[in-house]
Amino acid sequence: MSALEGKTILVSGAGSGLGRTAARRFAAEGAELILLGRRLDALQRTLPGARRISLDHADARAVAAFADQCPPLDGMFLAAGQLLTGSVEDSPIETFDAMISANLRGPWLLCHHLGRRLRRGASVVLVGSNIGMRAIPDSAAYSVAKAGVHMLAKVLALEWAPRRVRCNAIAPGPVLTDMVRGRLSRTTDPKDELKRLAQVNPLKRLGSEDEVAALALHLLSPDSAWTTGTVIPIDGGAAAVY
Ligand SMILES: NC(=O)c1ccc[n+]([C@@H]2O[C@H](COP(=O)([O-])OP(=O)(O)OC[C@H]3O[C@@H](n4cnc5c(N)ncnc54)[C@H](OP(=O)(O)O)[C@@H]3O)[C@@H](O)[C@H]2O)c1
Repeated sequence: MSALEGKTILVSGAGSGLGRTAARRFAAEGAELILLGRRLDALQRTLPGARRISLDHADARAVAAFADQCPPLDGMFLAAGQLLTGSVEDSPIETFDAMISANLRGPWLLCHHLGRRLRRGASVVLVGSNIGMRAIPDSAAYSVAKAGVHMLAKVLALEWAPRRVRCNAIAPGPVLTDMVRGRLSRTTDPKDELKRLAQVNPLKRLGSEDEVAALALHLLSPDSAWTTGTVIPIDGGAAAVY
């Protein structure tokens, strides 16, 4: 039997990058998907047959309304997020607010409203970041928001354990998605910056969307039934380097 046969999984950020590739992988493993993002056309391109929800995950009213009609869930992979760069001193407060909203308020609201839709034995995977674990210059608000995502996974693991619902976060290093392409395009020498990014971990390469999807699949499947409240780096070993 496939790993997610008969399970209903919600994926946010499913219209591109890590969310899109993971959604396709989960479907290949037998899951029924609910795809969430702000662009219906992008969600349609991910999996034409899947249920699609156009939603800003930071909009409390919209998330509450969706939760009222959402079917019971066996899992969620919450990949929606956004990256704006800048240091603490250089960033206007609007950047801080936007990063908290896109990266922390969104998953908080989805878990707050959809928690009651999770079946006993369900599993939730939040997407943090390796720069929510290790500080680097120039991504201050994003990093602070992702550190919050890691703690959100731990808190939810405790809250949901009595119902046998698990929650973990993954902390990816750089993977060449639209988000990273956008960041590269704002540097003076994108090719050079891409090379530099590949050198920051011991394995000396970027990760792939498929590798991240495989970890998410493991955490959603019963294979990881005793794993909850963890933050798992997937970053070529960067988190191991002092
Ligand atoms: N790529 C990396 O190197 C990397 C590393 C560490 C962590 N991450 C994290 O991985 C996740 C996926 O990122 P990605 O690299 O795959 O980038 P991406 O291709 O830009 O995907 C981000 C997705 O989030 C959706 N989204 C953004 N804001 C939203 C909102 N307010 N409401 C609903 N959906 C929203 C976007 O869709 P719409 O615009 O259609 O809404 C988009 O599909 C993010 O949380 C990111 O922070 C990525």
